[in-house]
Amino acid sequence: MKLQWFPSKFRSEIHEPLTRYPMHSAFKLASVLLVGLVSLTNCTKTASSTANQAGSAPLATEQQLTSAQVADARSNYVNYCGGCHGRELETFVNRKWQHGNSPEAMFKSIKHGYPDQGMPAYASTFSDAQITQLVSFIQQGVVAQKDKPKDKTNATVHRSEKLNFQLETVLTGIDVPWAMAFLPNGDMLVTERSGTLYRLTQNRDLVKIEGSPEVLAQGQGGLLDVKLHPDFAKNNTIFLSYSAVKKDGGQTLSTTAIMRARLDGNSLKDQKVIFEAQPYARTRHHYGSRIEFGKDGLLYFTMGDRGGTKVNPQNLTVHAGKTHRIKEDGSIPADNPFVNQAGAMPSIFTFGNRNAQGMARHPATKELWLHEHGPRGGDEVNIIKKGANYGWADVTHGIDYNGTKISDLKQKAGITDPIKIWVPSIAPSGMAFVTGNRYKGWEGSLLVGSLSFKFLSRLDVKGNTIVKEERLLQDIGRVRDVRVSPDGYVYIAVENPGVIYRLVPVKE
Ligand code: HEC
Repeated sequence: MKLQWFPSKFRSEIHEPLTRYPMHSAFKLASVLLVGLVSLTNCTKTASSTANQAGSAPLATEQQLTSAQVADARSNYVNYCGGCHGRELETFVNRKWQHGNSPEAMFKSIKHGYPDQGMPAYASTFSDAQITQLVSFIQQGVVAQKDKPKDKTNATVHRSEKLNFQLETVLTGIDVPWAMAFLPNGDMLVTERSGTLYRLTQNRDLVKIEGSPEVLAQGQGGLLDVKLHPDFAKNNTIFLSYSAVKKDGGQTLSTTAIMRARLDGNSLKDQKVIFEAQPYARTRHHYGSRIEFGKDGLLYFTMGDRGGTKVNPQNLTVHAGKTHRIKEDGSIPADNPFVNQAGAMPSIFTFGNRNAQGMARHPATKELWLHEHGPRGGDEVNIIKKGANYGWADVTHGIDYNGTKISDLKQKAGITDPIKIWVPSIAPSGMAFVTGNRYKGWEGSLLVGSLSFKFLSRLDVKGNTIVKEERLLQDIGRVRDVRVSPDGYVYIAVENPGVIYRLVPVKE
């Protein structure tokens, strides 16, 4: 096997597969431990009915659960929380708690939520007793998770239906690598969500690039996508999307913005903000942000609904919940679909989109494909068509996080159907078509990362349809970005801890 891209040290760093750790193993472990704990104690206190008064914090001490309560709490956790917090409680293990991890503090967090930060309120979904059980389930599960034995398997080859491959680690040591872009000289640009743009050299030096925009690195925001200009080799121009910040009275507001800049060595020069979504919002989620160039040479990007489910995606006077098309200097193409509609934002290309964090140009048809996060259920793959309405939030295959209905409709006249839906949601992020011939049997496949289930989805594509899904690298970590390099290798970026891997096919 000849490794060209990062030649020196990688051969010793082939990653161990995690296949011995099926998805729910930690849960099984947690519940065995929990049931064990319960049988060792006589304490089976349940939440008292007085705890049902609004706003009260009923817990003085951590509660032990009966096995039936563990089963209930686990099922509620998996159905309502796991999509965002990790099915194995990952986001709670080693957490820097924002609001406190005492039983009272957690109870309050779950009951009232932090809607502006993307944490729903569950007051109308669960009784206080159920919330209390969830608190105990999380606390005890986190302890069990910490004691989880590490995978000791030594096998190095990942098997897929059509080919086998190994993982090569090309970058470690950052938290959330949000996006990757390949420079013509073989270096790679990497954004870290907390706000730094890096150059990863072929020798694997990680060098900070000066001059990137100030970002609001809170919630889902920060420094997000990076894309090279189609003529980068001539003009060294790149585009960055990020959450821009502004103070308004006592409030900190944010929005999605796009900066164009020239990469000069390890600095950005001639920075210009070419797009700033309006209006700014108090929320810290659904920034969208993927950038792609169309075959028309125009810049397309996704803009999330910023949490304004009912008010933004179908409203053409705001930028949120759309895809947009602009020229590289930020000006508006004359043939954009809504340029002549009074009040409509002229950059809008499609609407009714929720939060798309993956977009890629089909290698043959040159159309742009994207996927978007559904709420609970209803993630979608869409092919974007000028002026089309994708339905959010009038039409959806999902329900709200707290279990309430968003819409009765899964289809409607005038709404473009997705070509694929995921129920339950996989929380898709990053997207790339496999090009070239390095991956036998995967030619033309669409690759999509899963944040919540932590795998790489390989979708078999026939024309404009998706005929089959294969889930690769189960449990690899939250897959944030997927790209194919100009020399035809698949790279994936996984978060917390941040790792970038290259998939290297092996012959056996
Ligand atoms: C749509 C995604 C989403 C869902 C679903 C969700 N959460 Fe959260 N949760 C968040 C986010 C984002 C935060 C961070 C809020 C902040 O930083 O202020 C959070 C914060 C929390 C916190 C406080 C953590 C801290 O650092 O203090 C707790 C506890 C919590 N969630 C529990 C739950 C439970 C239990 C459920 C299911 C009943 C759940 N969450 C469902 C997104 C979600």
